[in-house]
Amino acid sequence: MIGTFDAKIPPGPLAQKWRSHRDHSRLVSPNNRRKFEIIVVGSGLAGGSAAATLGELGYRVKCFCFQDSPRRAHSIAAQGGINAAKNYQNDGDSIYRLFYDTIKGGDFRSREANVYRLAEIANNIIDQCVAQGVPFAREYSGYLANRSFGGAQVSRTFYARGQTGQQLLLGCYQALCRQIAAGTVQMFPQTEMLDLVIVDGQAKGIVTRNLRSGKIDRHAADAVVLATGGYGNVFYLSTNARGCNVTATYRAYKRGALFANPSFTQIHPTCIPVSGEHQSKLTLMSESLRNDGRVWVPKRKEDREKAPGEIPEPDRDYYLERKYPSYGNLAPRDISSRAAKEVCDQGRGVGPGGRGVYLDFADAIKRLGEDRIRERYGNLFEVYEKITGEDAYKVPMRIYPAVHYTMGGLWVDYDLMNNMPGLFVIGEANFSDHGANRLGASALMQGLADGYFVLPNTLPNYLAGQMGKRPSPGAPEFQEAEKNVQARVEKLLRVNGTRSLDSFHRELGLLL
Ligand code: FUM
Repeated sequence: MIGTFDAKIPPGPLAQKWRSHRDHSRLVSPNNRRKFEIIVVGSGLAGGSAAATLGELGYRVKCFCFQDSPRRAHSIAAQGGINAAKNYQNDGDSIYRLFYDTIKGGDFRSREANVYRLAEIANNIIDQCVAQGVPFAREYSGYLANRSFGGAQVSRTFYARGQTGQQLLLGCYQALCRQIAAGTVQMFPQTEMLDLVIVDGQAKGIVTRNLRSGKIDRHAADAVVLATGGYGNVFYLSTNARGCNVTATYRAYKRGALFANPSFTQIHPTCIPVSGEHQSKLTLMSESLRNDGRVWVPKRKEDREKAPGEIPEPDRDYYLERKYPSYGNLAPRDISSRAAKEVCDQGRGVGPGGRGVYLDFADAIKRLGEDRIRERYGNLFEVYEKITGEDAYKVPMRIYPAVHYTMGGLWVDYDLMNNMPGLFVIGEANFSDHGANRLGASALMQGLADGYFVLPNTLPNYLAGQMGKRPSPGAPEFQEAEKNVQARVEKLLRVNGTRSLDSFHRELGLLL
């Protein structure tokens, strides 16, 4: 094993760890920053915010993405919101409460010091994004609005309709573009990392392949940051974009980077059910819908084929409200998903194949009016109608759990550095903050906390000891990595087989 397996949690009370760590960490002076080259792989919310911030600080950054533009990173698909403990609602929220909910929501399996830091930084993220012009929903008063997400008894989720990820990504992308124009960040779109290069036991570069030309290149750096998302697509169908292919973290793992908690996969309770054999992905229906939608199935199996309107109130089982009265329809995701599977296993599931439960807005529409519901969730209702052909203002949505997020990932210490010195891992790609279950609206929070605030403070702690140690891309370790990549690509291209790549992915995913 390369490096040490020490989380390096700073001493002292939880609430003082981050402050005191920053006070005692090594720094790189402004004049020296341009002497360091940093590779950032991935340009979604975590990678984009890290690359932009490091560029602004004066480092020379090379940022790589698989997509044709950072604008297409999978962060764009995030719908419901981003958590922060601003307590604008005056409903009892605090940094401690956000910390505690996150720890409890993760079944006490996350690292407390990291989570406390995350809860503290959450408020800075909102300020940063507002300053960038992110159009968060507002109250009539002008205050930023909040709604609730699962696993919390306060309203702390900031949102931009059902497109929060997209709006945050636009803010991040404009910050990134500013650095690209300033020459501190060099962007490499449509480029895939195919190997990590280790020199003297430290991560010092990558080998990439240009997805258009097929050209293989070597890139040396003083540190490598992976922000390449999770591995949900190993299950084949998931809410992840098809481009989320795990290659970067897998390659790092093959080079000795430790991978933690790979079984911690989040099954999101409210997705559009699988509709057939020829689907390549699933579609999320935001958890935010559970603020107003009520989840139910018929009490009796015999009623499952009836139209929902033909099932009277006394014959409906609002099972989340019944089983978890204090959270009701906003029970945490793991609990809600298990409960949905349970009622379907009992034969009470609705829709084709009986793998669905209702998410019903009739009460909310009666109470608030259709316009209010449209204002809150209009784009999600449109997506639902485009995919299912059903109007959810008139009939309940049908939803079912689907693979959505992976809490496991490459192991990191408090500085977000892997056991492999010089390799930093941020956002969904690392393992530390969400334990066995991530609370809704905490992925955007973690990605941006890592990129805008944590990494820019912890990376210098490593870099300060690395001045002048960047290897040349001509070093033997780079030659060897390039040769391996070349051989692997050529071998795959020579196979000349009769099955598509996708058919293997599908078979293995279904097996998992
Ligand atoms: O349900 C959602 O809107 C997704 C949010 C999340 O995964 O954090």
